[in-house]
Amino acid sequence: MSSHAPLYDLVSRPRRLRTNPAMRRFAAENRVHPEELILPAFVKEGISKPVEIQSMPGVVQHTVDSLKQAAAEAVELGLGGIMLFGIPETRDAVGSASLEEDGILNHAIAQVRAEVGDDIVVMSDLCLDEFTDHGHCGVLDDDGVVDNDETLRIYAEMGVAQAQAGAHMVGPSGMMDGQVGVIRAALDSAGSQDVSVLAYSAKYNSAFYGPFREAVDSALTGDRKTYQMDPSNRREALHELQLDLDEGADMVMVKPAMSYLDILRDVAEVSPVPVSAYQISGEYAMIEAAAGNGWIDRDAAVKESVLSIKRAGANSILTYYAAELARWYRQDNGN
Ligand code: PBG
Repeated sequence: MSSHAPLYDLVSRPRRLRTNPAMRRFAAENRVHPEELILPAFVKEGISKPVEIQSMPGVVQHTVDSLKQAAAEAVELGLGGIMLFGIPETRDAVGSASLEEDGILNHAIAQVRAEVGDDIVVMSDLCLDEFTDHGHCGVLDDDGVVDNDETLRIYAEMGVAQAQAGAHMVGPSGMMDGQVGVIRAALDSAGSQDVSVLAYSAKYNSAFYGPFREAVDSALTGDRKTYQMDPSNRREALHELQLDLDEGADMVMVKPAMSYLDILRDVAEVSPVPVSAYQISGEYAMIEAAAGNGWIDRDAAVKESVLSIKRAGANSILTYYAAELARWYRQDNGN
């Protein structure tokens, strides 16, 4: 028998704001808008149709044509940006194909810009790992160690080549010291003052990049521990942020996202420029694998994962789910 005599004088009942969908929507503190999403996309040289990436079900290595279609769709869906990664047919020790005007990435940037104009922000990965035969993000010295300053020389030229191809924004992801500064200076002296730099400021050495290696047919043996950040470090992210700001970063990024939400929050609290976060390949693969086994509700997990990144403080999010999220957003009228 229910009694209306209270057991206890309950003043606050947070459940009141959860009583029905309209109330929950009204009380929601965060939502993700398509304009905040950036679609990472892979384009491979020398293929005639898109190639599936086994460890990232639903993601492909594009042909230039299918990439252009994906970019047009990204515009149509109202996404904020598209981040391009190139996979060349031939690689060498210094990543020469990254500088060639008709190298796959520079060619793809030009083709995508011709397709989308200024209707979406066209971004390009500025790193050597896709272009080197050893798979490292820079060139190696005689001892086989990644040579910071020699790598910077190439990054500066890559930045100029990508800007000339039409990139609105370049994304240096190699974690070389000084990369933002040299790229900024090179862009400025080449007359590309208005091309912006999205700095991968706090990029950690993560096991969750695994599927990306398949996505770009990476040749890497060994690891990136001498240049990417140690996952145990928190304070260091603020140092990297400060350096990138001093060097002229227009936006900064934390990567990966989900295992680093504390870092994202730290950076978001102090950064005077917009903060981006990258939900990387392994984060995507984990959701897909668990959902594929029927262990989690895929769509709910996707939405929750991206919302958690927004809630932690990201102004924009790179995610392989960008197009799908935008389609859902449209269906649900933004809820
Ligand atoms: C380096 C780069 C990587 C990713 C983006 N840029 C690979 C790495 O640092 O090992 C990973 C993205 C992902 O895992 O989705 N060019």
